[in-house]
Amino acid sequence: MEQKTLVTDIAADTLRGFSANPKFLLSKYFYDDAGSSIFQDIMKMPEYYLTNCEFEIFSNNKKQITDAFREGVSAFDLIELGSGDGLKTKILLQFLVDNSASFHYIPVDISDKANIDLVKSLKSEMPFLNVNSKTGDYFQEVKKLNGYSGLRKVILFLGSNIGNFSDEEINLFLWQLSKLCHKGDKTLIGFDLKKSPDLIMKAYNDSQGHTRRFNLNHLIRLNRELNANFDPHNFEQHTEYNPLNGKVKSFLISKTEQTVYIASLDQNFHLKQWEPIFMELSRKFDLETIEKLAEGHGFKVDKIFTDTHNFFVDSLWIKQ
Ligand code: AVI
Repeated sequence: MEQKTLVTDIAADTLRGFSANPKFLLSKYFYDDAGSSIFQDIMKMPEYYLTNCEFEIFSNNKKQITDAFREGVSAFDLIELGSGDGLKTKILLQFLVDNSASFHYIPVDISDKANIDLVKSLKSEMPFLNVNSKTGDYFQEVKKLNGYSGLRKVILFLGSNIGNFSDEEINLFLWQLSKLCHKGDKTLIGFDLKKSPDLIMKAYNDSQGHTRRFNLNHLIRLNRELNANFDPHNFEQHTEYNPLNGKVKSFLISKTEQTVYIASLDQNFHLKQWEPIFMELSRKFDLETIEKLAEGHGFKVDKIFTDTHNFFVDSLWIKQ
């Protein structure tokens, strides 16, 4: 039943995206099992500084961060949206476990395989950790978590996942988060900061071709799940960064004039030569914008944690 709903969503979203001008696909569909594994490869690349920065932030500030989670309460629920392989979060989890904190960890991810692997690794690395994973879309799962328990909620949204949202999605997401939180609940959000465009471009245009594979995997997924007939060789990947608004945009460009048939939609789609398909937004922020986002949605920035280069920030918010 769950699977059927997801398939219907991808069909409806693909139809919407391919009927628009310019065409687009939603980046949430990057993360099938193959895409989640390619994303792990991206995170291991030295050019993809985001992961290392957040790793450094957590390693250097684990006491301050977890003290803030525990401040004033005896137990709490730690809900992570988009948990993936949990590599960075494990730094905080281990510290909490070592310091006998009373908490439940609820990782939420769109990839079932990522969840299964994460829970398996946690069971062996931290056998006493109380973990209860959920598979699904953030927006849907955020809604379902309403009323989960009466404990303080601490919500993690790391890795600059928020940067993949459009302005409207950011507002919708923060509005839902705000509704989910009670006064005193906390949220820790990772934001990638504006920096040298050269560094940003290297992270999204890597020489090993992982980002290219990541984008093309979306088409392979459509071939498999919607019986489409995309030939990935007919597309090239292109990335641009606009320092005025901090937006990295990723496209697949049709190298030839071509018609693609998507059997599940029973429709042909025509692509002109050099026509772009907008694939992903990865937005970069500044501290002023982050503060405005918090205050605009009923939160207050309590503390910020940055890496030594000031490339990335984990911003801790309290619900007012
Ligand atoms: C998951 N997200 C924060 C990544 C990003 O940086 O936007 C996804 C990604 N796309 C290309 N490389 C990484």
